[in-house]
Amino acid sequence: MYSEKVMDHFNNPRNVGEIENPSGVGTVGNAKCGDIMRMYLDIDDNQVIRDCKFKTFGCGAAVATSSMATELVKGKTVTEAMDVTNKAVMEALDGLPPVKVHCSLLAEEAIHAALWDYSEKNNVKIEGLEKPVNDISEKEEAPQEEY
Ligand code: FES
Repeated sequence: MYSEKVMDHFNNPRNVGEIENPSGVGTVGNAKCGDIMRMYLDIDDNQVIRDCKFKTFGCGAAVATSSMATELVKGKTVTEAMDVTNKAVMEALDGLPPVKVHCSLLAEEAIHAALWDYSEKNNVKIEGLEKPVNDISEKEEAPQEEY
């Protein structure tokens, strides 16, 4: 039911980890499945994404889609990175089963959350970018008083 590419990115995810002092970092969560994804971006002075890493506490499709998303945004400008939609990620993975489409949406939102953080910090306007509804970056970074 999963394409070879999905299995490949699930078994050998690219760009797992963190970036120290990232230009932008964002965390998103899906309230229904409880999966969480964090994306780190290293962006140079020409607004080109030099590096991208991710961490996912989520399902296999979340791992595969974040892995592919990091590969797709690397080397792109922040504006071009807006073209890395969940559809583009799914196409690059040769498709996903319908019940797993939301996982690819999480990947898109994670990129947007990281871009949003970058745009806020640097006062850069990125055409078409909105703060994702599932952005939980602030909650994740706050001291976890509720526990
Ligand atoms: Fe929620 Fe995959 S099941 S991200």
